[in-house]
Amino acid sequence: MCGIVAYIGHRQAYPVIIKGLKRLEYRGYDSAGVALLNHNIKLYKKKGKVANLEETVLGQDLEGSVGIGHTRWATHGEPSDRNAHPHFSATGKLAMIHNGIIENYAPLKQELIKKGYRFKSETDTEVLLYFIEEIQSNNDCTLEEALRIALKRVVGAYVIVLIDQDHPDMLLAARKGSPLVIGIGKGEHFLASDATPIIEYTREVVYVNDYEIAIIKPDELVLKNLGNERQTPFIQKLDLELAAIEKNGYAHFMLKEIFEQPHTIYDCLRGRLDIGQGVITMSGIQNNLEQMKNASRILIIACGTSWHAGLVAEYVIEDLCRIPVEVEYASEFRYRNPIVHKGDMIIAISQSGETADTLVAIERAKEQGAVILGVVNVVGSSISRVSHAGAYTHAGPEIGVASTKAFTAQLTVLTMVALLIAKERKTISNDRYIQLLNELNEVPEKIKRVLDNAAHIKEVALKYKDALNALFLGRGYNFPIALEGALKLKEISYIHAEGYPAAEMKHGPIALVDESLPVVFVATKDSFYEKIVSNIQEIKARKGKVIAVVTEGDQVISEMADDVLPVPEADELIAPVISTVPLQLLAYYMGVAKGYDVDKPRNLAKSVTVE
Ligand code: G6P
Repeated sequence: MCGIVAYIGHRQAYPVIIKGLKRLEYRGYDSAGVALLNHNIKLYKKKGKVANLEETVLGQDLEGSVGIGHTRWATHGEPSDRNAHPHFSATGKLAMIHNGIIENYAPLKQELIKKGYRFKSETDTEVLLYFIEEIQSNNDCTLEEALRIALKRVVGAYVIVLIDQDHPDMLLAARKGSPLVIGIGKGEHFLASDATPIIEYTREVVYVNDYEIAIIKPDELVLKNLGNERQTPFIQKLDLELAAIEKNGYAHFMLKEIFEQPHTIYDCLRGRLDIGQGVITMSGIQNNLEQMKNASRILIIACGTSWHAGLVAEYVIEDLCRIPVEVEYASEFRYRNPIVHKGDMIIAISQSGETADTLVAIERAKEQGAVILGVVNVVGSSISRVSHAGAYTHAGPEIGVASTKAFTAQLTVLTMVALLIAKERKTISNDRYIQLLNELNEVPEKIKRVLDNAAHIKEVALKYKDALNALFLGRGYNFPIALEGALKLKEISYIHAEGYPAAEMKHGPIALVDESLPVVFVATKDSFYEKIVSNIQEIKARKGKVIAVVTEGDQVISEMADDVLPVPEADELIAPVISTVPLQLLAYYMGVAKGYDVDKPRNLAKSVTVE
């Protein structure tokens, strides 16, 4: 979703900003723009990709060592040159970029229209900017003061960055709800929605907090709260390699990230799983183990793929820990009147750590006294900071919009959390505990074996790429993997796909089955094996095409199915981490075969920072 980059210092701002916007392309957007300050403000913006913007500015004046840039994911008003950011203020002396939504923009707009203002775009951003300028001229105050007054009246979420023609040595920024990172260089500062545009210039960063205003000059960074009190910037060191955000020879980030999984799972286990000693060490969890052990209920809150990880965790935690678990869509949880009991434990799962619905759902649960455990990938992100305890997934930056390696890392972390709690509650025998530790340890090697079979998975993908619909079925631990397989396919190949518990197909989806419908079964050898064999027969009896993820060496299903995608044998509790991988590849190869941009599928955003 919207990406923000800004620069002030001794370099030319334009190249820094354009490169930064390209680094943020993965977030999803539909227009891009830049404003540069050099005596006056020059503003260029264009519907479409950053590359279109680059073409537009060819031969234009791009001088200036202060500038702001933006990739917009449309909310208020269609994607167009007019609605793209930055926006000019009414006098043209200010320009601003914004990520988030100003919920009370309509009354503010009416107020301003009554005063004679006319707007050039349909955006809430332009309304806020005019409002700030109006306050400044009415109160004859500094822009900083006007910004503070305006933000006290704003309802919604925002990161904004402003440049002022009358103060060419300064950027003003503010944050509530949406992410903002400031990189600190020598005589220069870099602002961005996440660290990826900053990393090649500096490793020292400050994450701006909600309700803070940043006054940024080449040599100075001042943070203040809305009460005009100075805040001490907390400078952190980025632990991120440039190679991690580049494709390194792969055709797409998604493919690179799928192939990274043996490594990312290994990283996720490293330092935590000690097979020799038979222990798991996760300090964030262990410091709160008493509360978790005694939790009367666990609520899992997440969105998208992370929600699917939550569904797997529900099975794992209930099975191992005997604590009731409920899995909630964050967007539903935040708007109902949820019952959170004292003693309930909330697990919030998020790759980005910035998903607006998940963040607000956490706030709601906190208000009711819940303890929050964050399972997050992006270090220093908002969710990691508002959680009481946490475990990072350590999957590294995930650039492909469709989540792959972050999902398998989430499953790995959540399994370790469940094992820790089960051990503490004594709901698991020592033998089973040690067996599962060993199984976890073998996951990277087993995923490698699935990846070795990529050429076969590609062949299967090509065979079915023209399907209009697809059904994904699984039972037990494999049911959420069926949901995730369907989500991956629809995200990447735009084929309509539905995931269902295999037994439920008789209550509806079976009506869709004919020779044109591929039905993907996640049918590894587990306690539901015989049942799923029957379900496959039911589909074959109706001439459906069956693609089955099976355990290596499976004879029975291999004879029934049209195509099989074998995976190494694993305990049913661990199997989802492995059986999801062929489905990621299936979706990837289908999307590529159809000629789609799999890293940036249409209309989707990587980091959904608006509700
Ligand atoms: C978006 C992304 C998905 C992701 C979901 C939740 O829809 O495209 O890949 O699963 O948001 O994001 P989170 O960062 O909270 O895991």
